[in-house]
Amino acid sequence: MSGKDRTDDPIVRFSGVRKSYDGETLVVRDLNLDIVRGEFLTLLGPSGSGKTTSLMMLAGFEAPTEGTISIGGKDVTALPPYRRGIGVVFQNYALFPHMTIGQNVGYPLRVRGAAQADIDKRVVEALEMVELGAFADRRPAQLSGGQQQRAALARALVFRPELVLLDEPLGALDKQLREQMQYELKRLHEELKVTMVYVTHDQTEALTMSDRIAVFNDGGIQQLARPSDLYENPQNAFVAEFVGENNRLTGIVTGGSENGVYVDVGGGVSVHARPVGSFAPGDRTVLSLRPERIAVGKDGQWENDFTIEIDKVVYLGDVNRLLLRFAGGSEFAVRVANQGGGPVFQRGDSVRVAWRQSDCLAFPAE
Ligand SMILES: Nc1ncnc2c1ncn2[C@@H]1O[C@H](COP(=O)(O)OP(=O)(O)O)[C@@H](O)[C@H]1O
Ligand SMILES: [Mg+2]
Repeated sequence: MSGKDRTDDPIVRFSGVRKSYDGETLVVRDLNLDIVRGEFLTLLGPSGSGKTTSLMMLAGFEAPTEGTISIGGKDVTALPPYRRGIGVVFQNYALFPHMTIGQNVGYPLRVRGAAQADIDKRVVEALEMVELGAFADRRPAQLSGGQQQRAALARALVFRPELVLLDEPLGALDKQLREQMQYELKRLHEELKVTMVYVTHDQTEALTMSDRIAVFNDGGIQQLARPSDLYENPQNAFVAEFVGENNRLTGIVTGGSENGVYVDVGGGVSVHARPVGSFAPGDRTVLSLRPERIAVGKDGQWENDFTIEIDKVVYLGDVNRLLLRFAGGSEFAVRVANQGGGPVFQRGDSVRVAWRQSDCLAFPAE
């Protein structure tokens, strides 16, 4: 990675970090990443892409095979976890079942040798912070899943670390509780001004919560950017497909310039797209087009404007999802907001669809 991913005075710096568990396969390959003090940074990627391994190395539970990790400018690569001053909430780093919630939350302070009066006071504060003030004397098994995760969060925050790592902490919760907890985590992040490094495979969660997102695939960062930048300007087809809903069309570049290329998607259809990278006529390309950027049934003044038959209609309540198919076989989806009283779409109907050239990205085919 180049210098542009470096910042002044980062709280965390990964430099040339590689990890292999078996001495052969690299599950993290050349990680260079600066984490900005105070930010909410998310590592987002599919299962097995190396997110947890990266976080474990930062926490000190795994050692890098190569490279260094520093915290606050100090090389911590050889330091054990308890000397790194990091709070952790891991999916499989559960509460101690035989201790009360209060004892669980006080644990990090006890191992640090704090005085009992100080522990008692801080435990109360930490439990209040996550709205579990009334639960100090219960055991973990007497709490709901959401309450247990809040207690784990209180335990991670109780010693006021500058840096908190969270690995899929909401993975086991149902949708409503997960959304509520996302909101609470963001509130705590803002109140405490703590740096949070969050791991998830859920792109919606990442988009909602993060200041920046590092998209992981195959042991490396594909792109590191703010949520809106990631969504609007993905650097490659993987990022475009992983973040947000996406139509993927394949074709051959027939001409154009660096501002716009013409792509033959089969069946005599030519699509006008915004190139990401450079293309020559004859190059294979993957087009990325967000369903919500396709206008349906309007007079298009846009570069792409087709009348096309509906292959399938899926009713989703808030939207209708139309599946359309070009004569050459390429299929894509369109989302039409259900505002009531609108046109009723049916399979076999022809509709007019249009989209801007700038909303249709052309990536080199791998
Ligand atoms: N303790 C381990 N020993 C051997 N292989 C592991 C270990 N932990 C993870 N791996 C492997 O490393 C790769 C990355 O895993 P992980 O970092 O857990 O990814 P993620 O958190 O993105 O799902 C996977 O192929 C996984 O099977
Ligand atoms: Mg993981």
